[in-house]
Amino acid sequence: PQAGEPLGTAGEPLATAGEPRTTAGEPRTTAGEPLATIPAGQVVPFHGDHQAGVATPPQAHAAFLAFTLMPSTTREGLARLLKLLTDDARRLTQGRPALADTEPGLAELPGNLTVTFGLGPGAMRAAALPRLRPLPRFTIDRLQERWSGGDLLVQLCCDDPVTLAHAQRMIVKDTRSFAKLAWVQKGFRQATQRPGLTQRNLMGQLDGTVNPQPGTPGFDRAVWIGDGPLRGGTMLVLRRIRMHLDRWDAADSAAKEFTVGRRLDTGAPLTGTHEHDEPDYGRLTELGFPVIADEAHIRRAHVADPGLRMLRRAYNYDDGPDDIGLLFAAYQADVETQFTAVQRRLAEVDLLNEWTTPVGSAVFYLPPGCGEGGWIGERLLT
Ligand code: HEM
Repeated sequence: PQAGEPLGTAGEPLATAGEPRTTAGEPRTTAGEPLATIPAGQVVPFHGDHQAGVATPPQAHAAFLAFTLMPSTTREGLARLLKLLTDDARRLTQGRPALADTEPGLAELPGNLTVTFGLGPGAMRAAALPRLRPLPRFTIDRLQERWSGGDLLVQLCCDDPVTLAHAQRMIVKDTRSFAKLAWVQKGFRQATQRPGLTQRNLMGQLDGTVNPQPGTPGFDRAVWIGDGPLRGGTMLVLRRIRMHLDRWDAADSAAKEFTVGRRLDTGAPLTGTHEHDEPDYGRLTELGFPVIADEAHIRRAHVADPGLRMLRRAYNYDDGPDDIGLLFAAYQADVETQFTAVQRRLAEVDLLNEWTTPVGSAVFYLPPGCGEGGWIGERLLT
């Protein structure tokens, strides 16, 4: 190993991104392929033009933390806080303990940890940054304050829940003299599914089929802010959407598929056979009705221009039998023309509204990434 490379407890280098962890002797599917196990020990680079945790393939676990800044917080105070937290993130994501880490051993397996920072409308105001509008109210909203708003967002995503919990504790500790924790929302995804396949949410649907693909020009246009003082960053809309699963369980498969416009088993549109077949919105049944209903979720949510779509990077949540749903995280260059335009349409008509209720809502600006020696928010705050 090179000097400075993270080492395991036994002194051997930790596996870095790209090194497969599934080797001979590990569990396999009946077809003989290796089961994709949680790739513990992998590292997502921290430095770059954009913050990690957006274009990064979603890790198995997430915690979204929102803080309320002390009322006296100045632009300089916010800069100090972000410098401190950037230092924590830079270390922890690379498998190194935070400064004054109380349990350095818990930082050894980065498990693809990413730590992503965002600023809410209040923080943007306090630091005299460009205005960030809170989301408008939608008719379907039944928002609770305890899941809404926030000045500073820290999004932690990791394949290892222990690493994540440790990173969360270090971050919370270091914010103490600047801010109060407002809420924590924890989410999870299917950890053992092979990478690249679309995940199922807790309604059983394949969720994430039509989504901007990292590395394409459409993705860059849709997700990253291209010019102005906020360039290089992105906007996160986080909605906590409760699923009414008892009622959903009572619906039959035909009704469930009609609601979304896609099949439950394959995720294919009702007019096709494979998940990625293009839906045919003009196709009619023998009786002359649209095969994909006018009120179906995918028809109402569809945006034709790939550069105007939002990146959906959702996590499931389960906080007891009456509080199950989706942490709907959407990233985009412009909230008004991307998330809000679609959410307005869905609030008007969407069959899915029968089974889902937004109970939390927040919006944050995620500054661009930084280089070695830099910190998140540097260009804005100095
Ligand atoms: C598509 C589920 C909320 C926007 C889909 C699909 C499913 C789904 C199963 C089809 C597969 C796919 O392309 O991912 C859900 C559930 C929700 C929810 C269970 C709430 C619990 C929302 C919200 C928005 C949204 C709040 C935006 C305001 C979209 C978009 C698509 C989509 C843009 C792709 C449409 C297309 O172009 O085909 N959703 N969704 N969804 N959803 Fe949702």
